[in-house]
Amino acid sequence: MRVLVTGHNGYIGSVMARVLSDAGHDVSGVDSYLFEECTFGDPTSDIPSFKADMRDLEVSDLDGFDAVIHLAAVSNDPLGNLNPQGTYDINHLASVRLARLARRAGVRRFPFASSCSLYGVSDGDALLPVDSAFEPMPPYGESKVLVERDVSALATDDFSPVYFRNATAYGVSPRLRADIVVNSLVGYAFTTGEIRIESDGTPWRPLVHIEDISRAFLAALEAPREVIHNQAFNVGQSRENYRISEVADMVLAVVPGSRVTYAAGGGPDPRCYRVDCTKIARLLPSFRPGWTVPDGVRELYDAYRRHGLTYEEFVGSQSRYLRIKHIQRLQQAGRLDRDLRWTANVIHADAVPVGAAQ
Ligand SMILES: NC(=O)c1ccc[n+]([C@@H]2O[C@H](COP(=O)([O-])OP(=O)(O)OC[C@H]3O[C@@H](n4cnc5c(N)ncnc54)[C@H](O)[C@@H]3O)[C@@H](O)[C@H]2O)c1
Repeated sequence: MRVLVTGHNGYIGSVMARVLSDAGHDVSGVDSYLFEECTFGDPTSDIPSFKADMRDLEVSDLDGFDAVIHLAAVSNDPLGNLNPQGTYDINHLASVRLARLARRAGVRRFPFASSCSLYGVSDGDALLPVDSAFEPMPPYGESKVLVERDVSALATDDFSPVYFRNATAYGVSPRLRADIVVNSLVGYAFTTGEIRIESDGTPWRPLVHIEDISRAFLAALEAPREVIHNQAFNVGQSRENYRISEVADMVLAVVPGSRVTYAAGGGPDPRCYRVDCTKIARLLPSFRPGWTVPDGVRELYDAYRRHGLTYEEFVGSQSRYLRIKHIQRLQQAGRLDRDLRWTANVIHADAVPVGAAQ
């Protein structure tokens, strides 16, 4: 299948591009390369790609693709809060526009990276199935709800959107993120000896490895159309919901000499939910997740050790792994504007012209 991945240069996209290519798909990417300098370990896959802002894409950019996997977004709450209207413009309006363009270009499948954060705070310990009520935090969580609502209205016999509500991701990527819980706890433990918990440790969080997220999207490309057509799936495994304090204990067991600390005044987190992933296991049997959080903690610890990760580059003033710090640095240097547009024509080393590599 000819597949275009938006956001292929990001944390999940740079792993997904490899997983889809390894499975035999003809994969291209489009990205505005906000995090090109946020390198970690191995280089990204050499797939044909082009630099563009998704707000500016045209039908002709999507011609000839069988599927568009849509990952590009302002990807967390703190970043979303920097410019809420800009976040809605990119995450909501540009995503719906992209789906319309894809449909006009004859693209048949449109797997979209939604998020379990649209469930927000849940009562008690119940596992939330996909038809649960939404309690999203604006603008990030809410933008995902709005895309699901508006793109579902575009579904036709020839155009099948599918909404993957990813659990919180973890794992090693050439575009590492330090602002997601497992990566962060292991990084703090490795660079400072402290497993630093910002809440009281009680909140539940569903967790999923980025390779397993990639396998879910792969399964969506290969499943019979009627199985995925306009469907939402929680992406993860029901048994991989953990309290933050449990994750901390897993890190404690792996990182020698580490100890757990709680930030002063940390109460329950406003985001707390457990999700039910039985639907994806039942309807997409080719989705076979291979990771557990303890395995992921070991993978991260080994990678941080191998690459000699330092506190300063992980979360210090020069951090390139905290999405918000990196964006603020680009903006303070005048390279990126408030709406996350580059101010000058920056050359992106990773972009391989689509034509050139075919
Ligand atoms: N990482 C997680 O825990 C998680 C969980 C649930 C859902 N998601 C969703 O998965 C997707 C990917 O997340 P990620 O963790 O890889 O984030 P990321 O920030 O690492 O990557 C996002 C990519 O999108 C690109 N991008 C942003 N705005 C763009 C624009 N206007 N035009 C073109 N490209 C643009 C960035 O340059 C970047 O490469 C996002 O939609 C995110 O909301 C992530």
